[in-house]
Amino acid sequence: MVETKPSLAVKLGKLRLEYPTLMGSGCYGSGQEFAPFANLNKIGAVVLKSVTRLPRLGNPTPRLVHTPAGMLNAIGLQNPGIDWYLDHEVPKYAKLPWRVVGSVAGFSVDDYAYVCERLAARDEIAAVELNISCPNVASEGETFACDPKLTASVVRACRATTDKTLIVKLSPNVTDIAAIALEAEGAGADALAVINTVRGMSIDAETWHPRLGNVTGGLSGPAIRPIAVLAVYEVARVATIPIVGQGGIETTRDALEFFLAGAAAVGIGTANFTDPRIPERIADELRDYLWNRNLASIGEIVGKANVGFANVYEYEGDEG
Ligand SMILES: Cc1cc2nc3c(=O)[nH]c(=O)nc-3n(C[C@H](O)[C@H](O)[C@H](O)COP(=O)(O)O)c2cc1C
Repeated sequence: MVETKPSLAVKLGKLRLEYPTLMGSGCYGSGQEFAPFANLNKIGAVVLKSVTRLPRLGNPTPRLVHTPAGMLNAIGLQNPGIDWYLDHEVPKYAKLPWRVVGSVAGFSVDDYAYVCERLAARDEIAAVELNISCPNVASEGETFACDPKLTASVVRACRATTDKTLIVKLSPNVTDIAAIALEAEGAGADALAVINTVRGMSIDAETWHPRLGNVTGGLSGPAIRPIAVLAVYEVARVATIPIVGQGGIETTRDALEFFLAGAAAVGIGTANFTDPRIPERIADELRDYLWNRNLASIGEIVGKANVGFANVYEYEGDEG
């Protein structure tokens, strides 16, 4: 019988978190904005909005579109640029009682390495996540996260700039996410965030105009959850580093799917827009779930989905 409370703690490289929940980049500010509404002592960390070398105004509006089971967004990485960010934003994080993870975006390998080094050098920043779902100007705008070689080169360059935990965030908009994950791990990633948004588009049938100013965008929320769970499962089968599973998590049951598929921690993004208390509820309920099953830690359920039946389907397929 378990006598102490089950542990929810998780390690991502050198970064130890009391709770296995990270607030998704672009969805939680630095946490200060949510502090009046939620108990941030019960979250693992906040991943900050991605920052780039130069300031960016972002995409034309509208930037958000409601969809039947989530949202389409095309913010366009609006941010003040790394100089202003380090001078004016990052100092505010020094006194926060929760951990903040910086997020880096860029348009060349050099951009990523430059921003990563400067961000990681700051004590206020506990770890760095690489948002590699950006186009590389040096290779005809190909998305870093969609090409194994580009992924490896950007991760290697950033790895050389810091010893802090480096989380690499993968895109679902690929054929073989496991191959990209292996490249990221081989190039020095400490953890993988799986997944970023799924590409999407919506058109107004009255005006014939795309509903997003940028025409296309990224889908998030419950609609993408099965895509994300599969991606985590596929990555977990090849990667040996921890995975932060995310995509459409709204409830503890949703989070459990990700742990069982192989995630060591989970990310919560879009759900925070409708209920900022979801993360603390998930923390409490995860502990109850483990306690009721006499399990000592969250690690005991990671990757434990019973997928043995898959062999049956393969067998039946062969027969046909
Ligand atoms: C409005 C919005 C802005 C986002 N901005 C970023 C960003 O700047 N960098 C990043 O890596 N991911 C960004 N994301 C992706 C989320 O962090 C998350 O990976 C994705 O939305 C899937 O999780 P969810 O369904 O829980 O939101 C953004 C998502 C939304 C909805």
